[in-house]
Amino acid sequence: MPTQEDDDEYLALDGYEFFYEMQGRKFNTMNPTYMLPADNEEIQRFTLFHRLVKWVFCGNSFPGLVQETLESGEHHVLDVGTGRGDWAVELCDMFPSVHVTGVDLVPIQYQEVPPKCLFEIWDANAHDLPYGDRHFDLVHARAVHTGILDYPRFLCQVGRILRPGGLILLIEPDLRQWANNKPELKFKQGAGPRGWFTFWETYRSCLFAIGIDVTVPQRLKKLLEETNMFEQIEELEGEIPVGFYPIKRALLTVGQLQWMAYDLLLPALKPMFLSVGLPEASVDQIVKDAQHDLYYTKFKLSSRLRIAHARRRPN
Ligand SMILES: C[S@@+](CC[C@H](N)C(=O)[O-])C[C@H]1O[C@@H](n2cnc3c(N)ncnc32)[C@H](O)[C@@H]1O
Repeated sequence: MPTQEDDDEYLALDGYEFFYEMQGRKFNTMNPTYMLPADNEEIQRFTLFHRLVKWVFCGNSFPGLVQETLESGEHHVLDVGTGRGDWAVELCDMFPSVHVTGVDLVPIQYQEVPPKCLFEIWDANAHDLPYGDRHFDLVHARAVHTGILDYPRFLCQVGRILRPGGLILLIEPDLRQWANNKPELKFKQGAGPRGWFTFWETYRSCLFAIGIDVTVPQRLKKLLEETNMFEQIEELEGEIPVGFYPIKRALLTVGQLQWMAYDLLLPALKPMFLSVGLPEASVDQIVKDAQHDLYYTKFKLSSRLRIAHARRRPN
C-alpha cells in the first residue's frame, strides 16, 4: 500500500516512487509510454471530462445497460484507468451492494471512498490483468487507449475476466478534429484552423511514434468483433462541440467543458512532443498556434466521442 507523505509525494512502503518530474509536470514511473501528466492540472482535466460524459448521457454516468447489469444481487465492477476515481465512486454511491475496483498507474485517487470501492495500482499495458477468469460483471475503460500499446490483447484480457453475459463499456475520444462539421482531412492544405489541426496531427504522430494505435477509438466495434469473445456489440458516436457557440443549453455546457478540457490538454502535451525529439521552439509554436485557434477561431470546432458496448459470449 502506498503511504501519503504529503499531497504531492507518494512512496510505496518498499520505496517505489510513483512519479517523476519533467518540464514542471508530474508523470507516472510505471508505464513509460503513457506520456500524459499525473498532477493536479491533469486531474482537473479528468473532472471536466467526467462531467462532459455525464452530460452526453443526459446527466447520468450510468446508461440503462449498466443499470440492467447491476440490477440485483452482489456484483463486481472493474474501472480500468480510473484516474481520480470519479466514475468508480459514483457507481458505488448509486449501487451500494456493488464491489468496484479502479486500477491506474498512479495513486491519485480519492482518499475517502465508499466501503466497497477499492483502488489498485496496475499497468494494464504491461501484464495480464491480475484477476481471475469470469470474475467481473462489468468492465469500464474510459479515455485510456493512449496508455495501452496492444488494445486487441487488452480486449481479450477483458473477455477473460468478464463472466458470460457480463458487460464491457468502452468510451474513447476520437483523436481527429472537425471544423464547421468537416473533418480535418477534408480541408485543403493550409485551409481551416491550421494551428488547431497541426496540434492534433502532431499529437497523433507522437502517439504513433510511441507505438499507440491512434485509430482505436473509431474501430472499437471492429476490434470487439475480432476477439470473437463478445456479442450484442453496439457502437455510438457523440458529436462534441468545442467552445461557446451552441445555442441549446445542454450543448453549450458540453462545448464549454470540452473547451476547458482542451485548454488544459494543450500545455499538458508539451513534454510528450519534446520526448519524441521535436525542438522546443517548434513545440512552443505548435501549442501557441493551437491556443490561438482555440481562443479566437472563426470556425465551429468539434470533436467526437466513441462509445462501444458488448456482452461477453457464453463459451
Ligand atoms: C485520460 S485519464 C481518464 C481517467 C478516467 N478513466 C476518466 O475517464 O475520467 C487516463 C487514465 O488512465 C490511466 N492509464 C493510462 N494507461 C494505463 C495503463 N496502461 N494501465 C492503467 N492505467 C492507465 C492514466 O494514469 C490516467 O489516470
